[in-house]
Amino acid sequence: MRVRGIEMASKDCVKVAVRVRPFNKRERDAGSRCVISMSSNNISIQDPRNPQNSRTFTFDYTYWSHSGFSRNKDGLFVPEEAGGRYADQTSVFLDLGQGILDNALQGYNATLLAYGQTGSGKSYSMVGYGSNKGLIPTLCERLFQSIRSTQDSRQCQVFFSMLEIYNEQVVDLLSKISRSAGGLRVREDQQRGFYVEGLKRVPCDSAVQVEQLMEQGTRTRTTAATHMNANSSRSHMLIIVQLKQIFSKECITKQSNIYLVDLAGSERQRSSGSEADRLKEGTAINLSLTTLGNVISALADTALGKKVVHIPYRDSVLTKLLQSALGGNSRTVMIATLSPADICYEESLSTLRYAERAKRIQNKAVVNESPTERLVKELKAENAKLLMRLSRLGQEGRKADDETKELRRLLTHNELQIRAIQTLWEQHLQEALKDWETQYATITQERRMMQMHPYIMNINEDAQLSGVVKLFIQEEGEWDIGLADNSPRVISIRGLGIQEKHAVFSNQQRRVSITPVSGSKVIVNGVPVSKRIELQHLDRLVLGSNSTYLFIGFPTERSGEDWSRYDYDYFQSELAEAEGFHIQSLCEDQGQRPHQPDPSLLPVFYDYIKLMPMVTEANQMSKELKKGVEFKLEIKNLAMTDSKGHDLEKDIAVRVTSLESKQVWMWSKAKFVNRKFLMEEAYQQQVGGGEGADRAPLPRERDPFWDPLEPLHLGSAHLWLQSLAFRIPLEEQVEVVGPEGTEEAILQTQLVPCSPMGLPLGEDDILIDPSELLGKRLDFQLVLDQCCGLRWVKEARNRGVQIGFRVFDCPQPLYTPAIWHNVNPLMDHRVQFTALRTSQELLNYLQSNALVLELWGLQEGCSELVSCMDGVKMTQEDNIIIDMISASEHSTAETRGSDLSSSLRALHQDMEQLRNVNAALRKENGCLREQLNSARNGVENNRGRQERRGSLRPSCDAEFAKALKVFYHSMTSVRGQLQRLRRHKPSEEADLLGFRLFVDEHTYLLKDFSEQLEQSVTTLKQDVAAIVRRKREKSGIWS
Ligand SMILES: Nc1ncnc2c1ncn2[C@@H]1O[C@H](COP(=O)(O)OP(=O)(O)OP(=O)(O)O)[C@@H](O)[C@H]1O
Ligand SMILES: [Mg+2]
Repeated sequence: MRVRGIEMASKDCVKVAVRVRPFNKRERDAGSRCVISMSSNNISIQDPRNPQNSRTFTFDYTYWSHSGFSRNKDGLFVPEEAGGRYADQTSVFLDLGQGILDNALQGYNATLLAYGQTGSGKSYSMVGYGSNKGLIPTLCERLFQSIRSTQDSRQCQVFFSMLEIYNEQVVDLLSKISRSAGGLRVREDQQRGFYVEGLKRVPCDSAVQVEQLMEQGTRTRTTAATHMNANSSRSHMLIIVQLKQIFSKECITKQSNIYLVDLAGSERQRSSGSEADRLKEGTAINLSLTTLGNVISALADTALGKKVVHIPYRDSVLTKLLQSALGGNSRTVMIATLSPADICYEESLSTLRYAERAKRIQNKAVVNESPTERLVKELKAENAKLLMRLSRLGQEGRKADDETKELRRLLTHNELQIRAIQTLWEQHLQEALKDWETQYATITQERRMMQMHPYIMNINEDAQLSGVVKLFIQEEGEWDIGLADNSPRVISIRGLGIQEKHAVFSNQQRRVSITPVSGSKVIVNGVPVSKRIELQHLDRLVLGSNSTYLFIGFPTERSGEDWSRYDYDYFQSELAEAEGFHIQSLCEDQGQRPHQPDPSLLPVFYDYIKLMPMVTEANQMSKELKKGVEFKLEIKNLAMTDSKGHDLEKDIAVRVTSLESKQVWMWSKAKFVNRKFLMEEAYQQQVGGGEGADRAPLPRERDPFWDPLEPLHLGSAHLWLQSLAFRIPLEEQVEVVGPEGTEEAILQTQLVPCSPMGLPLGEDDILIDPSELLGKRLDFQLVLDQCCGLRWVKEARNRGVQIGFRVFDCPQPLYTPAIWHNVNPLMDHRVQFTALRTSQELLNYLQSNALVLELWGLQEGCSELVSCMDGVKMTQEDNIIIDMISASEHSTAETRGSDLSSSLRALHQDMEQLRNVNAALRKENGCLREQLNSARNGVENNRGRQERRGSLRPSCDAEFAKALKVFYHSMTSVRGQLQRLRRHKPSEEADLLGFRLFVDEHTYLLKDFSEQLEQSVTTLKQDVAAIVRRKREKSGIWS
């Protein structure tokens, strides 16, 4: 009995399948590694950063569609060899689609959901591309086949609906009536549950008809996306197939609803990640998807026997509509799609976790009886009773005219009702077929025109929506393109930044050219154009902010080439390249040879091209809504904040500038993405909503374009600490470098080893061997004398700056007081640090790290940065204690603090180690690539590298240390000379004489510099030679 019980319960568990797609171009370019493996129904995922860390999941079905396939002559992706492991569309259908269909034919409600990150293959599995038809079209094809084969035993009625949920609004994708503001309503009915009020249900009787309806729906989706300035990856697409089977002989009617759901990209709900954004709390980037996750979690918990008080179905439109699919009356299948690339590890792992929760959900599916059929049954039963009464009246010979009349009236009424119910379907079908015929004629005409005329076709970020809109430049003559739709010679388009009359196409002597109307934005092949330009077949056009089209020339110019490479990424890469940003430029920064793109930089490159059109759109919305701010992409070099100065990674940020006040904000990538969605909403409400749009400006605190001012990180300087390990004072002028490599300022600084009371140490205190410091007290002062040439203040005098820094394990960053309105402010800021007993860790830190001095920009109205002294310990002399572990050995009462500081230090060390490993690995990676590229030179390179490595090994010999110390001293003055040279510039008003004077001075400074440098190096060489000679004599090599 128990076994049966389990069987019964598990029968209706949500079935989960996982499918892995092939690498896409980006992933191949990045040299991605596959981190997913499959065996039978198990799927394992390996953490690319820690290969020992692998997790295995088990699902009802797993599909390997990553490798082992080829394209056959019909364009179908099939296994390379018969019986190969590659799962093609047919095999996925046979498991999942057929199951859904069988359930529907038995009279159960059935649901199929596709879940996964953007671009992971949801639409490929559900809808398919070209001849690789997905689950939905194949399911419909088989449904009609089945209907036809059993025509004698039952009558079937199929209704098809298609809708989109975008931003909690329901859009009917089959309705020709223009969208009502706010979308269609979702209502609740006792019997039907939740349903979309007024959703179009089209009766269908063939798969071709369904395919055409899907095409129509996709077209509406594409135009809706441009009109709402929306990204289709954020929207959910639902297809509802209602199947009604009337078995007249058995007097049974079965009715089932098939829900086919292509969900929005799953990563969107986390787009803000852990980043703080003032407006994050009020936003649900995709409320429906977040709620779906919550519903699934709650249902999974229920299945595990946990007490769950509330399942939040009512919190979003999607979960309302899927209520029966999840935990209700439906047989449900989820297909989770994955990219197997290492760069998608986090997303893929999260998809697998999600899928694992979903498979616990238990449903209670029952065979459905149609309410309409029950009505017919009831009416028939009533008629039978009426007839009985009539015949009884007749038999009894009673003459009750009134009663008989009434009974006959009722009978006729009922008969009419029955006939009406039964003939409704035929009528509907006839009407739908008429509709369909006109649609079909349009499509046939479009196909014919494609064979005759040049045209432009849309390219969308979502590959599924590309090529859906085709705009023809028909006969000879001129064609306006723009928002206007008032003349037959106008090609009407909509989109951000499109003008009433945007440009003019001219079709003359079988040549097509485009002329932008003044003030409108037209880009051809990445280059903005302002004059007439002739178009070539497959030219790329960007109109307005981001309406992207591919130009298809006259049929004679087409030669059967593959157009698919001109996808959205292609357009954006081309635009970026025209702006001077390409993957090579990132590598050149790194001192790498241009033909060796570092795979770790590719994500930055793709982030850049992904954000680029979003920035253009944000700028257009800002302009139209008169927000007065401008957005600009910047690449941040993270080496700025690394205390070892490693060129670790790069990241993207968005600089926001107020056009009027010149105030500046820096937004992280995640914050910008979040804000962009909110901007779209605001824009939609204020501009795009048509009648009834809410045109009241948003209050400031909810305005996505606005933020309170914050101090801005302008750049960093590195002050190397090595001299402190020898107790040598250092006076240095360091350059503050901005995120894009610009010189933000010069800082005059000092590091002064001193006594506990702050008196500078003398020459005698200089150490020959730094290890002498171990266990001893070390005091030193950091002096920030002056800031010169502050670019930030030069740009706007009402600004100020502060400098922040953090020494070794000091728990908080410290800041200098703010200085305002001065390009070369004197600071005279002095802080003394004390290590009570110098530890080996501190010594290592001093010898290999720099103090990162961060320059922070202040603007009028923004609060200043304040040093927080929480957890900072002071000596009696009011010096800041660093190297906390050694300090705690002095005072046992402070063990708790030291625990914290030791874990902080351990973390710090771990991080350092990781960074070192990272840097080493990257170097290694570079070398390996080089070896691969030039195998012949490989051996020599390797030898050279080993020799270099040998020569770098540090010597501990005291004599060496002394020689180095002398060299170091002389280098300090050489460096000073170099700084002087750098700052030596001719005056802006200098005349010829002035320039001559400048050149003379410069030559003199240069000569002085090279002499000093020469002398230092010669002395070092001589010293080292003498030491080596002495050593060899001592070891008696020549004796
Ligand atoms: N199994 C597969 N075999 C071959 N190509 C695939 C497969 N799955 C996906 N692709 C390709 O990957 C690309 C992205 O797939 P798709 O459009 O299905 O992603 P998606 O998950 O629907 O993304 P979005 O959330 O943006 O809608 C398409 O070009 C598609 O052809
Ligand atoms: Mg898709």
